[in-house]
Amino acid sequence: MSEKMWAGRFKKQLDSDVNDFNSSIRVDCRMYKSDIGGSIAHASMLATQGIISKEDAKQIIKGLEEILNDLETGALSFDMTAEDIHMFVEAELTKRIGDTGKKLHTARSRNDQVALDIRLHLLSEAKEITELLKALIEVILEKAETYKATVMPGYTHLQRAQPITFGHHLMAYAQMFLRDISRVEDAAERMNYSPLGACALAGTTYPTDRIAVAKALGMNGICENSLDAVSDRDFAVELANACSLIMMHLSRFSEEIILWSSWEFKFIELDDAYSTGSSIMPQKKNPDIAELVRGKTGRVYGDLITLLTMLKGLPLAYNKDMQEDKEAVFDAVDTVKTCLLIFVPMLNTVTVIKENMLAAAAKGFINATDVADYLTKKGTPFRTAYKISGTLVAYCIDNGKTLEELTLNEFKEFSPDFEKDIFEAINLENCTFKRNSRGGTSVESVERQIQFIKEQLK
Ligand code: ARG
Repeated sequence: MSEKMWAGRFKKQLDSDVNDFNSSIRVDCRMYKSDIGGSIAHASMLATQGIISKEDAKQIIKGLEEILNDLETGALSFDMTAEDIHMFVEAELTKRIGDTGKKLHTARSRNDQVALDIRLHLLSEAKEITELLKALIEVILEKAETYKATVMPGYTHLQRAQPITFGHHLMAYAQMFLRDISRVEDAAERMNYSPLGACALAGTTYPTDRIAVAKALGMNGICENSLDAVSDRDFAVELANACSLIMMHLSRFSEEIILWSSWEFKFIELDDAYSTGSSIMPQKKNPDIAELVRGKTGRVYGDLITLLTMLKGLPLAYNKDMQEDKEAVFDAVDTVKTCLLIFVPMLNTVTVIKENMLAAAAKGFINATDVADYLTKKGTPFRTAYKISGTLVAYCIDNGKTLEELTLNEFKEFSPDFEKDIFEAINLENCTFKRNSRGGTSVESVERQIQFIKEQLK
């Protein structure tokens, strides 16, 4: 353990267990790029403002660039006994360029430094998540186009309800993931403000230029209140919230994939490369990936709750509790990224068993609503028509028939309004393809939805 930067105030060295407990470098070392980038922008502002000399700034920036390069090539590795990434970089800089390195921290505190680093780091994570979501939507669009006329049962209460197309079902997920993109982008927008220059909590007496630093870092602007700048972690909560919703959507999708690939449904078959076998039951093919995605959803929710709970009782401004933010939000983004990465090819390689979807739709009186609609169009009030249709279903169950298998005479016993055209009206494909209302399940409607999403993605 090297001497602490704050050693002057203390008579004893830090206990080594306390040092381990206190240290965050294991978690925050991944922010090295943001930390160094922020320091470079800070040093160059200090020089422009005449707070340090141009020569000092030049040396500092060169030293920082070399550290970045050495970390990237592996020539330099992190000192895991360091307190955090900020202390590590500063100590390494001073080791390399001597006392000049000690000037970097002028008009700055680790409090505004860490707040900036997390923002910069999460901004790049947000971009990656958005790209992965786009890739997922692309696969969904492709499949929806392929299966826009594939009839399957639509469910409510997991009971067969009305026939839909598989393409329509898939497009529901495209909408969810499109909203997820907008949530991530929205969080990134608010995240993109620089807290640097707030210093420890109260600002500084040095003539700094905070806006210049924000501009150099490509950020939208600065956090206007120095206390808020160093104590705000809303942006981490917002990203963890967006991650939680992404996981919730992936989890619902996973649940359906698990059901659909069971023998009870057999609507799809997962590719061998994306499913696993059993160590004892030779017939098994398990949807482990989908189950793991569903399982990992809980930990991302946990990360969100960790952040909210960590913040709820904190007085302004910085408190060490806040060091816990990184482990939680990094776990949330890591989990979302790994899940999306594996989910996309799993979905892309799925085999769809159209016959089983159609066969399932043919059973279960899925066209009973259409019988009621038929009578309604002939002038029967909907409630009465609904009752007649229900009685017909009961009759079918008693007689082991489906609605399509009834004769016209049988129909007529329940209402004189039934004519030959009832058979056309309850034909499964007609029932599905005629639901051409905006957002409905017809082929044209699915095509419209695909077009809509494509335009949104541009
Ligand atoms: N490692 C700390 C964190 O992540 C950096 C800020 C430390 N500031 C302080 N005043 N001790 O929160």
